[in-house]
Amino acid sequence: MKNRALAITLVAAALACRVPAVRPPNPDGPAVAARSAPLFPAGWLYPPGARAAFAPHGMVSSNEPLATAAGVEIMRSGGNAVDAAVAVGFALAVTYPEAGNIGGGGYMVIRMSDGRTAALDYREVAPLAATRDMYLDSAGRMTDRSIVGHLASGVPGSVAGLVAAQRRFGRLALAEVMAPAIRLAEEGVVVDSALGRSLARDAPLISRFEGGALFAPGGAPLAPGARLVQRDLARTLREIASRGADGFYRGWVADSLVAEIRRGGGIVSHEDLRRYRPVWRDVLRSTYRGFTLLTMPPSSSGGVTVTETLNILETVPALPPFGSAEYYHVLASAYQRAFIDRNEKLGDPAFVRVPIATLTSKEYARKVAQTIAAGRATPTAVLETKLRTLREGDETTHYSVVDSLGNAVATTTTLNGLPGSGVWVRGAGFFLNNEMDDFATQPGMPNMFGLVQGEANAIQPGKRMLSAMSPTIVLDPAGELLLVVGARGGPRIITTTSQIVVNIIDHRMTLADAMSAPRVHHQALPDSLRHERNAIDPAVADSLRAMGYGLSQGAAAGQAHAVMRVRGGWEGFVDPRASGAASGY
Ligand code: DON
Repeated sequence: MKNRALAITLVAAALACRVPAVRPPNPDGPAVAARSAPLFPAGWLYPPGARAAFAPHGMVSSNEPLATAAGVEIMRSGGNAVDAAVAVGFALAVTYPEAGNIGGGGYMVIRMSDGRTAALDYREVAPLAATRDMYLDSAGRMTDRSIVGHLASGVPGSVAGLVAAQRRFGRLALAEVMAPAIRLAEEGVVVDSALGRSLARDAPLISRFEGGALFAPGGAPLAPGARLVQRDLARTLREIASRGADGFYRGWVADSLVAEIRRGGGIVSHEDLRRYRPVWRDVLRSTYRGFTLLTMPPSSSGGVTVTETLNILETVPALPPFGSAEYYHVLASAYQRAFIDRNEKLGDPAFVRVPIATLTSKEYARKVAQTIAAGRATPTAVLETKLRTLREGDETTHYSVVDSLGNAVATTTTLNGLPGSGVWVRGAGFFLNNEMDDFATQPGMPNMFGLVQGEANAIQPGKRMLSAMSPTIVLDPAGELLLVVGARGGPRIITTTSQIVVNIIDHRMTLADAMSAPRVHHQALPDSLRHERNAIDPAVADSLRAMGYGLSQGAAAGQAHAVMRVRGGWEGFVDPRASGAASGY
């Protein structure tokens, strides 16, 4: 304990000459009551009591062990949490090609230990040549061109975002931070079982395009044990390391990207790449039972929908016990209502007026909560009309990083589907996103995730497509960092992230239990309460049916990667549904 305290002091002293002096987080741990052991239903897959990784100084939790190690390496060599997060981001582009790719986009929420906060929107935008109905056929029917192939891509934002975050908050040179990724691409990585599974699953799509030769030579996906060397990607990363974002958006990488897009009849142009800019936004700040939440504002719907959900839940003074029918009723009702607002009212604030203040206000939540009937589900169709009259005047990967001073980064990045549109940029070595499907490609009709969205999210050139990504940072009632969390899983990102927060704050679970607990999902339409297998006790399921819920078993959970403060340091945990590693120093 004494050594640990000394080490923290030494690291803090070493850093003090380069950054404003800040106090490391309280070593006595967060200002929250003791954790308690949850009861999960019989037959539930992930038992309570799993052990999280612990480290006294810094912690990374990501979807892939070598990428996690890259983040730890950067912190050990003097980088802060933002340097480490950017190192993880570029490393994932090498080791986790299905989602951690530079051909996509994402969001980052940052909280520095001196109290500064920032939200970075590096979401893709619609190309300048995009049109509202570009994915409909001549009979007005939706096609799959927003999902597969060269037309499906928005203008990538990841490189501009990572570079901007590192420049504003990092302490090291970009080239230092990118070194682990370049090394992994050049020297190669051994395909592990997670990568092997993902390549086996995606080989049919990958093989339709240029990535087939690398990832599935002769049609056979690389199997565990094979070495994956990515020379083209290494060259691209070197170009970015030496020229910053220009190395991607101008020059030979941009030429390769545009050439590939043109070859397949897509529309992303040099002009689109030249114009792309990430946007710094104010974090969306809210409170939940005395804790502070820092989340992502639009163009992601994540922060607004998580906030509205928690505000509705907060109107219930003490939530019913975890796993009870009453608990799932109030949880599902909150999600259903927050998703109705999400699906209709949210979009890129540069193009549509988004009523953020209203949707995230406690007063609005109280009114919405009044539409929840005791012991009875309300059909979405009925609620849609009710919420309208309440209007007042107005494949993805998440990683969480914390350093020894308590600087924290939550970032979620995506290609959308796995692995994006399937299109791979020859010569430059990366997959392109199929993020255009996150627009309402035909308002009122479901997208890839079954989300039915409205005009606010219709396609317009230069517009960001609405996202569910919800990178979130939670401060304890004393204002100190408690939790860094987020997930992948389309709309289930919102329900996954908020259930972990509720499990920790209301149900007082440990981080591992909060992430292992069974999850449910409601997104308004389809109007059903989705749950994981064996997630709900059969008697509880009967009660929910009697309340009028249509229950459906299926993909109800996203996959989260989180870090939480505990006495003496940090715990990191990987969702048991996900691949990856949490590790620190
Ligand atoms: O931005 C969004 O909401 C989606 N493109 C996220 C997709 C996703 O999480 C897929 N991963 N499993």
